[in-house]
Amino acid sequence: MDSSPNQDAEFFYPSQQIVDNAIIQDYEALYKQSVDDPQAFWAARANELEWAKKWDKVLDDSKAPFYKWFTGGVTNIITNAIDRHLKTAHKNKLALIWEGEPGDSRTFSYFALNREVSKFANVLKSLGVRKGDIVTIYMPRIPEMVFAMLACAKIGAGHSVVYGGFSVEALAARIEDAQSKVLITADGGWMRGKIVNLKEIADEAMSRQPTIESCIVVKRTGQSIYMEAGRDYWYHDLISLPIASPNCPTEPMDAEDMLFILYTSGTTGRPKGIIHTHGGYMVYTYTTFKYVFDIKEEDRYWCAADPGWITGHSYIVYAPLINGATSFMYEGAPNHPYPNRWWQMVEKYGISILYTSPTAIRGLMRFGNAWANRHDLSSLRLLGSVGEPINPEAWRWYYTVIGKERCPIMDTWWQTETGGFMISPLPVTPLKPGSATKPLFGIIADVVNEEGHPVAAGEEGYLVIKAPWPGMLRTIYKDPERYQTQYWGKYGNMYQAGDSARKDKDGYIWVIGRIDDVIKVSGYRLGTAEVESALVSHPSVAEAAAIGLPHELKGNAIYCYVILKAGVDKNDKLAEELRQHVGHEIGPIARPEHITFVDSLPKTRSGKIMRRVLKARAQGLPEGDLSTLEE
Ligand code: WT7
Repeated sequence: MDSSPNQDAEFFYPSQQIVDNAIIQDYEALYKQSVDDPQAFWAARANELEWAKKWDKVLDDSKAPFYKWFTGGVTNIITNAIDRHLKTAHKNKLALIWEGEPGDSRTFSYFALNREVSKFANVLKSLGVRKGDIVTIYMPRIPEMVFAMLACAKIGAGHSVVYGGFSVEALAARIEDAQSKVLITADGGWMRGKIVNLKEIADEAMSRQPTIESCIVVKRTGQSIYMEAGRDYWYHDLISLPIASPNCPTEPMDAEDMLFILYTSGTTGRPKGIIHTHGGYMVYTYTTFKYVFDIKEEDRYWCAADPGWITGHSYIVYAPLINGATSFMYEGAPNHPYPNRWWQMVEKYGISILYTSPTAIRGLMRFGNAWANRHDLSSLRLLGSVGEPINPEAWRWYYTVIGKERCPIMDTWWQTETGGFMISPLPVTPLKPGSATKPLFGIIADVVNEEGHPVAAGEEGYLVIKAPWPGMLRTIYKDPERYQTQYWGKYGNMYQAGDSARKDKDGYIWVIGRIDDVIKVSGYRLGTAEVESALVSHPSVAEAAAIGLPHELKGNAIYCYVILKAGVDKNDKLAEELRQHVGHEIGPIARPEHITFVDSLPKTRSGKIMRRVLKARAQGLPEGDLSTLEE
């Protein structure tokens, strides 16, 4: 990647037209109001939505850091994402436009979406799914994935979506943790002209974790697959049964009831089940989407993430629907069959807001400007970026070649844990390439040192959030202790994000990257420990260490150091076999870039691998304090 961002860079200002049409024109004034009286601010936003019963308390902090929001309130996120639109002109507005990789397309109005979701909700009920159960969803990017998530929410079941790029062990571990009895998957999905064999992976995962009693399979590719009698059912068969009526009441939920669980990588091998709720998450995603993407009735919004990640949960599925927006979703790869695929769809569907990741931008930038220039991109009004810091070179390309210097870039910093955007510009904010700019309403973000004191302007420190917010995770599933120590343990009263950052003299925040054993590969979050345990599960491996090193396209790439069992031969064939093994266990995104065979690993006297030393060595950098090194 190019040189580090320039904090003194010139500002990029929005056009007068953008400013005049923005919902929020004075960030400073509303920000001040929101942090002076956050409860009044959030109550006002919550009041824009529908509740079966209003809350007694906006924030209950009596058991901090186990904060509760809108306690006593009763609603269901579906009441606001679907039901309320059926009573307005939104009823016949498009909720979802979808295009498959082979070029097929489908559209659903809010009315049609309600029908699909209700029918499937009735199917889930007939399979015994009850309020509070957790249903695992493992799907390609097709409309049924959205229906499945919404159907669970409608009947009060939690969904646990496992990204379709994950593989056997990742899926099995998540099924096991959630103790899911129902799995929803597909016969496959299209990616770069090839079929991803989701059902085959699901079969292997189910054989490792036999909790699944019913597996529902959507026919997407039509290829022949194994169907186990009494366990596996076709989606299209189930929704044709009389039980699948298009009428299904939306289950009233307490504001604090679980909406979903989403697993994310942390510092240990076991992924953390992040819990979000119906009330606070609904209000938070609704508000952040409305203000940051400045959503208009006529917008066609495209978040190019996968619904299997938090970006998709919050900003493909829930926030756009709560706002009554039209969301576009595409199944496949950006460069298939040619690198103009995305730009062709922007033109074809008249996309006005495009939200993607730095890694995707870098990937498309590499094909040059001509592919984008062949298309009319004048429908675009706003651009967005998420997942990792965006390097200024990619920012400038996105801004000039895609946005034609008309479209401000919303660089949104947030996490699975935060539920929604935390640090982000608004369309009116003067931008600096590479900075997510300033905290959003109600969010007090700061950069502090080891003792928790703010560091001087321009100095590196830990990124923290100093007050709770409605979209925050409530806990880690079955592990409240880990929630407390991981996020609140260091300072007690501040949420530690796990990122390092700088705040410049203008108060702009520049996120640098993870400070824990989490690696961002192409914006995907992976734990070094998960990669290591996948390696160690191979019969030839005795010990392994994984680190992230800078990579031009991926941001970071995984490098592994492996000690083989006695008598095993070190050779390239085995290195390749180990890479494939990691891909098979976790998923292609986790496949190491390179494997080096070693005879020892740098460890502390207590036996912990010093990944920081491996990283420094690999980059030829000073190795720092080695006093705890055992070698
Ligand atoms: C980590 C969270 C939340 C959406 C997708 C990622 C990094 C995310 C930015 C940004 C710099 C960013 C951070 C964060 N990150 N957005 N705009 N600028 N870094 O969610 O998988 O939970 O990862 O992604 O390191 O901690 P996630």
